[in-house]
Amino acid sequence: MRTSAEAIKAGVKSGRSPRAMVLAAAAAAILAAGGISRAAVSHHSRPLKIGIIGTGRIGGTLASLWAKAGYELTISSRHPEELQSLAHALGPKVHVGTPREAAAFGDVVLISVPYGALPQVGRDLAPELAGKIVLDTGNPYPQRDGAMALEARRKGTGVASAQYLPGVRLVRAFNAITAPNLASQAHRSGELVGIPLAGDDPRALAVAERLVRAAGFAPVVVGGLARAREFDVGTPVYVKLLTARELREKLGLSRAPAAGGAARQAPTPPPPPAAGPAPSN
Ligand SMILES: NC(=O)c1ccc[n+]([C@@H]2O[C@H](COP(=O)([O-])OP(=O)(O)OC[C@H]3O[C@@H](n4cnc5c(N)ncnc54)[C@H](OP(=O)(O)O)[C@@H]3O)[C@@H](O)[C@H]2O)c1
Repeated sequence: MRTSAEAIKAGVKSGRSPRAMVLAAAAAAILAAGGISRAAVSHHSRPLKIGIIGTGRIGGTLASLWAKAGYELTISSRHPEELQSLAHALGPKVHVGTPREAAAFGDVVLISVPYGALPQVGRDLAPELAGKIVLDTGNPYPQRDGAMALEARRKGTGVASAQYLPGVRLVRAFNAITAPNLASQAHRSGELVGIPLAGDDPRALAVAERLVRAAGFAPVVVGGLARAREFDVGTPVYVKLLTARELREKLGLSRAPAAGGAARQAPTPPPPPAAGPAPSN
């Protein structure tokens, strides 16, 4: 198995784009790491197919983790040719397509684009996304995404994203962990890192929980979409690498929250600051 450095060197020689090299290096590191079995994909029901829109730092890392867990994926780009080497590295169950093809392919669609692109993705791909389970990782940064990001911060991302993605079964997921930690902490030994989730559709939440486990983390259902704001940018649990237990404690959740409607033990925290940290994630 290639090391990250070897993957980057090979990329430089072959004249691949910087994005392709970074993704290939991350994929090589994830594929080389141990600690996962392909049993993540159920043999008792039809395996889930996953479409990925936005195969960047977060989408590319999740593609590697889910490919390693045995899922069939279509990763996508507006420049699909840039993803061929990543798909090749991830194996025969990983296909490359356009965002539209990925949306049509997935039983579940991960959308991991700059938040400012979400309205356009929602509009353009509405027919393909209708009725599907969609995991949204986006974080609004006014510096990067403009005025709509301020509005999304005010409303909370669960409410704002649902407006941009009407007709989907939306789950907020993987927004509160950085891409480097997503790659390095997956399947870590000891207590797993918790990934907060929010959604209104219990079946979509159950699928999201399954995919969080397959990626090597512990899902924590916080509640409906309105509660996604509790793990938005700037909240006390944002990118803190908390275990599921710590996350539940900080969010005042009971031990085993019911999908879509977690029991509350603490008051709602104040909304995060409007501007927040710099747009590194
Ligand atoms: N990086 C982090 O640590 C982190 C952590 C948590 C959450 N997030 C959030 O997750 C989202 C993705 O972050 P990232 O860091 O992975 O971003 P990234 O590395 O910049 O990747 C974003 C991808 O989105 C695609 N994209 C951009 N505009 C698009 C459009 N109009 N239609 C379709 N695809 C489009 C681009 O793909 P093509 O150019 O190939 O089409 C790009 O590869 C952001 O909202 C970010 O705030 C990031």
